[in-house]
Amino acid sequence: MPKRDFVLPPEHIYPIDEWRLAEVRVSPEHLARAETIFALSNGFLGVRGMFEEGRPSGAPASYINGFHETWPIVHAEDAYGLAQTGQTIVNVPDATVLKLYVDDEPLYLPSARLKEYRRVLDMRAGTLTRELVWSTPAGKHVRVRSCRFVSLESRHLLAMTFEVEMLDRAAPVVVSSEVINRQDARPSNEANNQRSADPRLGRRVAGRVLECQVSREAGDALLLGYRTTHSGMTLGLGVHHIVEATDDHRVEAAISGDHSKVVVEAQCEPGRALHITKLAAYQASRAVPSEELVERCMRTLRRSVHDGVESLLARQQEHLARFWDRADVQVRFSGGSGRMQQAIRWNLFQLCQASWRAEGTGIPAKGLTGPAYEGHYFWDTEVYVLPFLSYTQPRIARNLLRFRHSMLGAARTRAHELALSGAAFPWRTINGEEASAYYAAGTAQYHINADIAYAIRRYVDVRGDRGFLVEVGAEILVETARLWADLGFHCPEGHFHIHGVTGPDEYTTVVNDNVYTNLMARLNLNYAVASVRWLQQERPADYIALVREVGLDEDEVEQWERAAAVMYIAHDDKRGINPQDDNFLEKEVWDLARTPPEDFPLLLHYHPLVIYRYQVVKQADVVLAMYLLGNEFNIDEKRRNFEYYEPLTTGDSSLSACVQSIVAAEIGDEEAAMSHFRSAVAMDLADVAGNVSDGVHIATSGG
Ligand code: BGC
Repeated sequence: MPKRDFVLPPEHIYPIDEWRLAEVRVSPEHLARAETIFALSNGFLGVRGMFEEGRPSGAPASYINGFHETWPIVHAEDAYGLAQTGQTIVNVPDATVLKLYVDDEPLYLPSARLKEYRRVLDMRAGTLTRELVWSTPAGKHVRVRSCRFVSLESRHLLAMTFEVEMLDRAAPVVVSSEVINRQDARPSNEANNQRSADPRLGRRVAGRVLECQVSREAGDALLLGYRTTHSGMTLGLGVHHIVEATDDHRVEAAISGDHSKVVVEAQCEPGRALHITKLAAYQASRAVPSEELVERCMRTLRRSVHDGVESLLARQQEHLARFWDRADVQVRFSGGSGRMQQAIRWNLFQLCQASWRAEGTGIPAKGLTGPAYEGHYFWDTEVYVLPFLSYTQPRIARNLLRFRHSMLGAARTRAHELALSGAAFPWRTINGEEASAYYAAGTAQYHINADIAYAIRRYVDVRGDRGFLVEVGAEILVETARLWADLGFHCPEGHFHIHGVTGPDEYTTVVNDNVYTNLMARLNLNYAVASVRWLQQERPADYIALVREVGLDEDEVEQWERAAAVMYIAHDDKRGINPQDDNFLEKEVWDLARTPPEDFPLLLHYHPLVIYRYQVVKQADVVLAMYLLGNEFNIDEKRRNFEYYEPLTTGDSSLSACVQSIVAAEIGDEEAAMSHFRSAVAMDLADVAGNVSDGVHIATSGG
């Protein structure tokens, strides 16, 4: 059972609507969460749901997938092969700010007298809109309407419209449209990298990150170019304004790398609105100079001006119609389904936002909605998101798998560092290198290799796309199988064992024969054998090419087959269950029922050595194996395993509830199934894990 109670979003602030997420009151209490749940993204570019005024704000941020800074990891006690270079996604300059002044009075939501207020994320339109009526200190009434979207059609583009209308009396109106480098804006001069005790949070990189290389105006556009100090990545940004107002208006620009502005001043009469369109184009690269990126931004802007916002909005809806056509899930519960239906759609919408234009990149654990996990790609993609995409959006699934393939070179190098053959994919990364500093809950999770193999198999089976195996799939399977064959060993009794690994449950680390790992490794080995043999028989020319490319010999394939055939899968005959690993059952049981609620998640309250001494589970491990590899267990085994692990499972990882729900449903435990289902679906909207302000839990959305 989930150990945490949660409260669904209050209806007087967030009314139920199956296709929209609306906020009908300004709620300072929900500020940082709202920035996450109203975030917009297309998988390339993401902006959190900041207010147009730029303040108050929780953790204002905009991201480009894969655009990161590197920094040296300082290990207090270094050891051979530990990850040396950290990677952190950069908070790119924020183009969402449009500050409003009427009669020189600023609109500031917490203290403003608002006659109307409504902010709406529309999941079919792909827009975040806001409409309010402000009663100014002088008693004038102003209607302010805005709309923002991150284009699904033109992936570099963020488009905004902002409209101000005096309802009763005229007033001088000023709109300051700004671009702010928040990455390098610091509260104080920090000498060192700052890191909180919560390992899930992002790191604030020390020193200046974005070095400005271009800052100029061109016609109506502000053009900015940057280079990151250490990773040497480049960024281009162009911002263009279209102002529609009375003749009596002025536009003035001031540009600088950290804070640029276009200030629009107009005398506004009732009945005649001031209308501003703000288009921002972002480009990032590892190789192209920022000056060239800025030129590309200009081209995007010119095209967008030519197409017009209306037509981009229409295209936005068409993309979403295509998404929903295949992805929608409808539920009916007795006693009202509205909130759950809304939450399910919101989760599906997050998957769309995280992946739709993630071309040539992976999917960060938080999508592009928050700083936690530093924009890193984990196994979350392959196990939790790719199955959904394989069924509903095969083009995206294929791209993501191809992206993994692009990291194969780095994974080979990593295997070599670990004194292993084949490839060792990094536990967390942006650029292909291992970025996990804590190897016990990082690199030791070799299961990521098998998770990738699993995702390939699922994709190929679902789509019937064997061409993918020919292109790149078989190569990944060979290299991952090689790692297992080298990592494990045959014991005198003949079994194949895999020692010194960490399974999905990070509350037990560096163990022998983790059942999940061994079962998934077996799948990886068997699938590699089957794929190589299929190539040999059906595509002899491609087989020969593969053999040449990876230096494969038939003995190796036989070795994989033998290892898989005698893979050791731990089983406790007395209890009739699978021990999570070789000595899991010998440890003392952690009594979760007697653990004070404020001690969760355990990782923030107990030293790892305390946690490692006990039978206590962060997230589904054997239970996950029973879901992914359902045919390996009969229903009684599933029931016994589920019942054994359920009371030990904290749910401290958001990757758990969805899996527990599925398995509980399968064994007929409807109460557990329903309760985990609710907590998985509500994970972010009800802030079940207490950290939605740091970003959406994309794996949960997929789960
Ligand atoms: C989980 C991992 C997961 C990561 C990113 C951690 O808390 O234990 O399994 O990959 O979060 O979502």
